[in-house]
Amino acid sequence: MADMRNDREVTKPAILFLCLGNICRSPLAEGAARVAFARAGLDATLDSAGTGDWHVGHAPDRRAQAEARRRGTDISDLRARQLSRDDFYRFDLILAADESNLRDALAIRPADATADLRLMLDLLPGRGGEGVTDPYYGEDDGFAATWHDVAAVSDALVAEFSPPSG
Ligand code: 4NP
Repeated sequence: MADMRNDREVTKPAILFLCLGNICRSPLAEGAARVAFARAGLDATLDSAGTGDWHVGHAPDRRAQAEARRRGTDISDLRARQLSRDDFYRFDLILAADESNLRDALAIRPADATADLRLMLDLLPGRGGEGVTDPYYGEDDGFAATWHDVAAVSDALVAEFSPPSG
């Protein structure tokens, strides 16, 4: 949310990453974004959620935790939660991992929602419309591919929300 300090607008974006279970892709996206925003010295509200409720209260999948640790961040304290209608007012931007997550989110979006709802990979040139592959049922190396995508998305977010230089 934007506020005014010293006559200068200071924008603190609130971004929610969304997937199905909130134990693989979106917690990795939240972890990658925490790393990228901290590295850039930018303040942001970052969170993640799932459209489904099967894993509510669970920590991220152990393979996702291990991938995050390999990339220098600890996501073991995150707990899965389900997307709520409130999220459409609390966040500026909700980024869905794939088309199915986007459809499920649209189905509960309030008519007067203030959040923008987009696909994560719409932020990357040439990747618009693509989904972040769900690594849940695959081999461990799927998590490295997921990290690669969500780290690129996080860099794009940092670029978008960085104050203009000069
Ligand atoms: P995520 O992956 O949506 O990236 O968290 C999944 C996690 C759990 C299930 C499916 C996808 N599941 O069917 O339990």
